[in-house]
Amino acid sequence: MNDAVNTTWDIERIRGDFPLLSQRVNDKPLVYLDNGASSQRPEAVLQAMDRYYRECHSNVHRGAHTLGDKATTAFEGARATVRDFLNASDSREIIWTRGTTEAINLVANGLAAELTAGDEILVSQMEHHANIVPWQMIAERTGARVKVIAISERGELDLEHFRQQLSERTKVLAVTHVSNVLGTINPIETLIAEAKASGAYTVIDGAQAVPHFQPDVKALDCDFYAFSAHKMFGPTGIGALYGRADLLQAMPPYQGGGEMIERVSFEKTTWNQLPYKFEAGTPAIAEAVGLAAAIDYLNSLDRDAIEQAESVLLARATERLSAISGIQLIGTADHKVPVLSFLIDGLHPSDIGTLLDQQGIAIRTGHHCAMPLMDHFGIPGTARASLAFYNTTAEIDQFGDALEKIQRLFAA
Ligand SMILES: Cc1ncc(COP(=O)(O)O)c(C=O)c1O
Repeated sequence: MNDAVNTTWDIERIRGDFPLLSQRVNDKPLVYLDNGASSQRPEAVLQAMDRYYRECHSNVHRGAHTLGDKATTAFEGARATVRDFLNASDSREIIWTRGTTEAINLVANGLAAELTAGDEILVSQMEHHANIVPWQMIAERTGARVKVIAISERGELDLEHFRQQLSERTKVLAVTHVSNVLGTINPIETLIAEAKASGAYTVIDGAQAVPHFQPDVKALDCDFYAFSAHKMFGPTGIGALYGRADLLQAMPPYQGGGEMIERVSFEKTTWNQLPYKFEAGTPAIAEAVGLAAAIDYLNSLDRDAIEQAESVLLARATERLSAISGIQLIGTADHKVPVLSFLIDGLHPSDIGTLLDQQGIAIRTGHHCAMPLMDHFGIPGTARASLAFYNTTAEIDQFGDALEKIQRLFAA
């Protein structure tokens, strides 16, 4: 990062863009460290959605009147923004979904016809349930088998084990770009290249990647990439699936209803063209506009500066937590985003969460929808602080001070 970029990183101005961050919780200034579960929205997103409802709301793709045209223009403009964000070549490759979960279910259902008994679906030990359960359901339907790539004690994917698992029976590789528990950034370029060379479809769960960096589906050369807006400073209830056009063309629709059809009769119904074939019913229009506003907002910031700010926060948080006796960090990969899962000897994670909440510090505790990962480490859950670029080193110090106090007063 150059000096010019450094001087543009005005954290107070950035925090000022997020109205919720200035509130007090339990009579203390809020320290929001639960961004992995859901991040906060900048004013630009709130205003874009408000403006949409005040000035141009109507249903889309009906073409009957001016407001309908305005809504459709905003909605399809948002799709183009997502296309550019992911560096996809064609808007037809961007399918609106309710989020990552629905996107992965859509792909799993779409690929079911390709799977038969004896085929294998390769996932990793660190997957969120959203990238395990849909595959288990499809495996049950088709007779395929879900196989698991092992991870190291530091929470890094075991590439050798991946290579041992990969065979001509592997029909799908479904892995997360970034772990929601460990923060690990997986070497998905390598995984995708090797899985493709072996003839497998590649499905990437990008839910925890997009808040931290911009994926490039062309460079990654993946078949599918899924993400949720609410984790990247956009609204809840919307996300997107990138899918290679030829694969989406070949896949059957996911849900039936209005919008996804070309023609309906009781004798025969035919499907609409991409992307509408996968978008049954009235879509989340204001949310699409909000997601595009979140992307525009991120584009207005300096990506290098975000990465630099986050690596400073990660280093500081790791240093503070490592210095506290009785704390065990779960997930110490070389290449990770600022997510810190930890345990304190003698304290249940949920007690840590409650005690921190009393100090106005919001973290998450539990299994984080990654029970197989918890089983791997032999633990029921962790406490997890997940940071965003709008957090400050002062907040990390408050968090560290509060944990030191908790450890002194309550830990065994
Ligand atoms: C890695 C990962 N994948 C998938 C999901 C599911 O996202 P959503 O609930 O927005 O569909 C999450 C949510 O925490 C996640 O962290």
